Amino acid sequence: MRIAPSILSADFANLQRELDAIKNADWAHVDVMDNHFVPNLTLGLPVVESLLKVAPMPLDAHLMIDDPDRWAPQYAEAGCKSVTFHVEAAADPKKIARDIRAAGARSSMAIKPGTPWEPYEELLPELDMVLVMTVEPGFGGQSFMAEQMPKVRAVRESVKKHGGDIWIQVDGGVSAKTIEQCAEAGADTFVAGSAVYGAASAADAVEDLRRLAAG
Ligand code: DX5
Ligand code: ZN
Repeated sequence: MRIAPSILSADFANLQRELDAIKNADWAHVDVMDNHFVPNLTLGLPVVESLLKVAPMPLDAHLMIDDPDRWAPQYAEAGCKSVTFHVEAAADPKKIARDIRAAGARSSMAIKPGTPWEPYEELLPELDMVLVMTVEPGFGGQSFMAEQMPKVRAVRESVKKHGGDIWIQVDGGVSAKTIEQCAEAGADTFVAGSAVYGAASAADAVEDLRRLAAG
């Protein structure tokens, strides 16, 4: 079970301090948005390069951007240990996944709530993680979509059949109220933004989520 707080809900004027506040997390999740693939704009490679210099944990880049074919390998080369691209934006998902791995990171593919899993099952050999979105990507603080749980189960079934160390991540509306059903459906890697940075103590929130996910 891995907890990856999303710094989208952190104070962007104090990102180093906000990363230090979640030292007990397994990963820090960094949401890159371009106002094309999603209707919001956050940060890009220069900021990620600076975060990599000060982060006490590995970074998990979630690219909600057009043209991941061009950009995803660059986040891996910069030093992100996991790079997630959206299949909906990808011209050649297999090549992106291979390029991410060749640059030394875990390759990960995300699917939006309206995107089915089955057509992409054949990509599993190229992947180290599948991200099942539990909100429409673009903003923190949205309501959890429990109707995505059957998709998490389907991905878990595929991973079981395929074998190997492939993680299943959920992202969006994950909180103390919703994390158990995600774990029960087969997720093992949990992104939480507002549930961590909106709490009185971010570190305590991480521990609570970890305990609930472990069941
Ligand atoms: C949304 C982002 C999420 C976001 C989650 O598009 O991908 O990582 O930060 O925020 P919460 O946990 O508040 O739903
Ligand atoms: Zn995200």
